[in-house]
Amino acid sequence: MKKIIVALDMQDSKKALELVKALSPYVDIFKVGPILFLTSGPKIIEDIKRLGNDAFLDMKFHDIPATVKRSVESARQMGMHSLTLHSAGGELMMKEAASVPNHPKLWAVTVLTSELTDPIIVRQRAQLAQKCGMDGVISSPHEIEIIKKSCGRDFTVVTPGIRMESDSKNDQKRISTPKAAIKAGADFIVVGRPIIEANDPVEAAKRINGEVEEALG
Ligand code: C5P
Repeated sequence: MKKIIVALDMQDSKKALELVKALSPYVDIFKVGPILFLTSGPKIIEDIKRLGNDAFLDMKFHDIPATVKRSVESARQMGMHSLTLHSAGGELMMKEAASVPNHPKLWAVTVLTSELTDPIIVRQRAQLAQKCGMDGVISSPHEIEIIKKSCGRDFTVVTPGIRMESDSKNDQKRISTPKAAIKAGADFIVVGRPIIEANDPVEAAKRINGEVEEALG
């Protein structure tokens, strides 16, 4: 599976699907969050899948355990590849989510990459997420190594906060280049604005993919 996940953070589903088509040579998984889902609904997920790609639902669930469990069931029925929930939602919430048979990959947010934090907190949340049956975590590039060391290589780490040297940081605080993130052991890198707001998104994806391949050697 390709390492780049593109965040389709836009309201316009037509534009989103044009990007999905154009970026498919470099991307297998597309991330849909509230911005797009609230304007386009489940149809956008069907369309992404119809074009041969996987959909990653990034709603960062953080609610009572029963509600999160039923939300995971709904995501499974929609054929979602993966989804996020917030590790701060606690042990019971994550365990209920993991109890859903054949659930999509469950990736727990540790701490948002737009926030500064102590890596120890990220490590603790990752360990708790693993204990509760999560398939992996979302963390900044700065904590990949510490998580892999404490949770093992098979515990997936998905990393937003990716910027090329020349990119704007936007609101992200803990950032890294694609190459450094992959070298540190990221299983997937999530890239939004550096691709979707680029003058030429395909060229941007190609460049990032080049860095990923270089890092993989
Ligand atoms: O545009 P940019 O590349 O900063 O987008 C990063 C994406 O990753 C956004 O969709 C954001 O919601 C998401 N994300 C994040 N930090 C997390 C979890 C998700 O930036 N910890």
